[in-house]
Amino acid sequence: MIRARIIGTGHYLPEKILTNKQLEAFVDTSDEWIRQRTGICQRHMAAPNEKVSDMGAAAAKMALENAGVSPEEIDYVLLATLTPDSCMPSAACRLQYKTGATRAAAVDINAACSGFVYALQMADSFIRTGVHKTVLVVGAENLTALINWDQRDTAVLFGDGAGAVVLRAEEGKRGILTTYTGADGSACDILHVPGGQVMIPLTQEHMDELNLGIVMDGRELYKRAVRAFGEAIEVVLKQAGLTAEDLDIFIPHQANVRIIDSAAQRLGLPNEKVFLNLDKVGNTSAASIPIALSEAVAEGRVKEGDIVLFAGFGAGLTWGSTVVRW
Ligand code: UT7
Repeated sequence: MIRARIIGTGHYLPEKILTNKQLEAFVDTSDEWIRQRTGICQRHMAAPNEKVSDMGAAAAKMALENAGVSPEEIDYVLLATLTPDSCMPSAACRLQYKTGATRAAAVDINAACSGFVYALQMADSFIRTGVHKTVLVVGAENLTALINWDQRDTAVLFGDGAGAVVLRAEEGKRGILTTYTGADGSACDILHVPGGQVMIPLTQEHMDELNLGIVMDGRELYKRAVRAFGEAIEVVLKQAGLTAEDLDIFIPHQANVRIIDSAAQRLGLPNEKVFLNLDKVGNTSAASIPIALSEAVAEGRVKEGDIVLFAGFGAGLTWGSTVVRW
């Protein structure tokens, strides 16, 4: 049976770090509040000239090197992001050029924080149906560019960075076993960026709305996230014919440690099977799972034959989960 196997992982985090303590100087917040309510201690921040395609290309190069694959072998580039360099052309096309993936088709996927899982599902479908053999999936975000630092509820949550995986068609038992994705568009306004596109265009008269940055109903999102996360995990495990006891490692979207803890408790998963890095990187949306995966692989936390679970949720609302045999 042909499966899509992840044969290389990589990530990139911008050099600049913004700690909670540093945030205290210009946001009405405290290190204690942020740690207690979210688990975040610091986040990385892209330099002014650093775009999603640059961060994504850096992560992609690391993934290609680890896979032993040359850029010209890539058939397709899927870039999950909600912060593309510009709305046209796609950041995926810029990334394709910067990576040297000259033969590859390229497209952006926007499913917010679930984007990486959505893109993985598409890559898996391309590969299992024989349409493509080698696919690069990248999650990259420049979320600090969207932040209004006067909005403390969102200003403290987000960070920048990129993660990437190279998938290849392979005979055998290893690779993506199954993916589940879903959406509920009736909840669009719970987490959104109102300004800057067609609904509220970039004009002088719209300056106040454009300055809103990321708008979020945190409490409502929290409730729905706990529910969606739990359900996404239950469904994907059922699809895979597995139970929580079969899992070797859970690599969740890193939004809030309390949301992750509640999902792990519901599954009965011990702490050592849950990979966390949000204390160091914050919420990097579509980049969150691939950065965590790349770090987990580099730390030797993922071994051949392991059953690995990814799960994410985010604006849309969207959610998604994937089970992989490593
Ligand atoms: O990737 C998906 C995207 N986002 C999420 O998944 C976020 C989901 N939601 C959450 O993670 C949580 O709701 C938050 C971390 C955003 C907020 O935590 P919370 O425990 O739900 O806090 P809250 O919104 O209920 O606010 C509690 C208090 C409020 O003050 P009062 O009304 O009790 O006096 C807020 O004004 O905390 C205040 N507050 C803050 N205080 C210090 C809100 N933000 C801050 C802040 N620093 N940054």
